[in-house]
Amino acid sequence: MSIGGHHSAAALKDEWLTPPGIIAALGPFDLEPCSPILRPWDTAYSHYTIEDNGLAKPWFGRVWCNPPYGLHAAQWLERCAAHGNAIALVFARTETRMFFDHVWPKAYGILFIEGRLHFHHVNGQRAAANSGGPSVLIAYDPENADRLNRCGIQGRFVEL
Ligand SMILES: C[S@@+](CC[C@H](N)C(=O)[O-])C[C@H]1O[C@@H](n2cnc3c(N)ncnc32)[C@H](O)[C@@H]1O
Repeated sequence: MSIGGHHSAAALKDEWLTPPGIIAALGPFDLEPCSPILRPWDTAYSHYTIEDNGLAKPWFGRVWCNPPYGLHAAQWLERCAAHGNAIALVFARTETRMFFDHVWPKAYGILFIEGRLHFHHVNGQRAAANSGGPSVLIAYDPENADRLNRCGIQGRFVEL
């Protein structure tokens, strides 16, 4: 079962890590507010985990956000939009309430990634299966939109 599917416990697990090549192409970031407790690599200079509850903490600097899945993802995109200096990675569920509330009216640019990502397990291992659906990178200010446009990750950038 793929990560993007709706119907299995595996699909609901949260610990799917961003492919490190994406962080390398877009970083450095100051803060990752939703990081695994035991992470195989840093994605930013500072990290919050579920033990901190990244939504309850102050956000600062340039933020990387590949949020927990499911209904909670909307809260993280709402926070990204309020913060401004952020790039988020989510599934391209462009028809959803989350997109119409916190992406289409608030983002400055979206990179629709070509193909499907292979996320990583918390031990660092790349998942054998792809994510099962399309992913997008969302920028919440003009500078990060410009970074998305020029980052070299294969896909189609759309300015909003
Ligand atoms: C889809 S994973 C992405 C991990 C990491 N952000 C990355 O890009 O590789 C979502 C992560 O959010 C963490 N998480 C879930 N709820 C959280 C919370 N309230 N505060 C901080 N982190 C949380 C999970 O433990 C999980 O590691």
